[in-house]
Amino acid sequence: MRNSRIAIHPIAGALGAEIEGVWIGGDIDDATIAEIRQALNEHCVIFFRGQEFDAERHKSFARRFGDIFVHPNYRGMQEDDEIVMVRREPGDQHIVGEDWHTDTTMVAAPPMGAILYAIEVPPYGGDTCFANQHLAYEALSAGMKRMLEGLRAVHSDRLVAGPQAGRNAYRATKVREDAGWRETVNTHPVVRTHPETGKKLLFVNAAYTVGFAGMTEAESRPLLDYLLQHGHRPEFTCRFRWQNGSVAFWDNRSVKHLAVNDAGPYRRLMRRVQIVGDIPA
Ligand code: SIN
Repeated sequence: MRNSRIAIHPIAGALGAEIEGVWIGGDIDDATIAEIRQALNEHCVIFFRGQEFDAERHKSFARRFGDIFVHPNYRGMQEDDEIVMVRREPGDQHIVGEDWHTDTTMVAAPPMGAILYAIEVPPYGGDTCFANQHLAYEALSAGMKRMLEGLRAVHSDRLVAGPQAGRNAYRATKVREDAGWRETVNTHPVVRTHPETGKKLLFVNAAYTVGFAGMTEAESRPLLDYLLQHGHRPEFTCRFRWQNGSVAFWDNRSVKHLAVNDAGPYRRLMRRVQIVGDIPA
């Protein structure tokens, strides 16, 4: 048995931990990667401070956890399809990820995670909040858990991309809005089992989930709204204050997250790489 290579400092009761002892821009051995993966499974989102690495190093770090996921709605919109620069410019009215969401759940196999690196952060504002969906599931009553068993939710990207969503008029980070864009729709179980830990979690989110399979959207709305609100009760959350060089690595299966749109007159520039995930079971 060897000593741990990393130090783990939880930042809240529900989820989130800062990791010390890892230089993401350097060569990281397999045992340390295994410890980081274990910390991610345990804390759902992990943070690193004081890092400095370029886009290539960012991608090689991500590849230690899986293949890189290319976001279909940003494909061809930026310099490198494997990277999304999440940019907020002074005057932007909206930003990427300002509603509680899980990333890209309209696809059949949503990303397992994302690694977000802070290049330029505002002097105040622009925090990111995370919510633990294992806790959200566990807090439901036995009756509600029984009712959700076997229920599938419909996930679509029509609220966040395409000409009808109209996102580009109000923000610097542009998404596909061209006439050739087509909605992507898939269904996923409302209660999902985490493929690595075997723990159950609530898997619906405001950006992509539009209803339940076999029901109309109007019929779905009351229960869906309840579950969406329930999923980010304060006791399930943590809030991360960024500095230049900070990194957040979230497990996109077990957390929802939200970028707080309060950076006032300031720029905020982040670099994001997503990692391929599996079909929710
Ligand atoms: C995202 O939702 O991926 C962006 C989060 C952030 O900018 O804090």
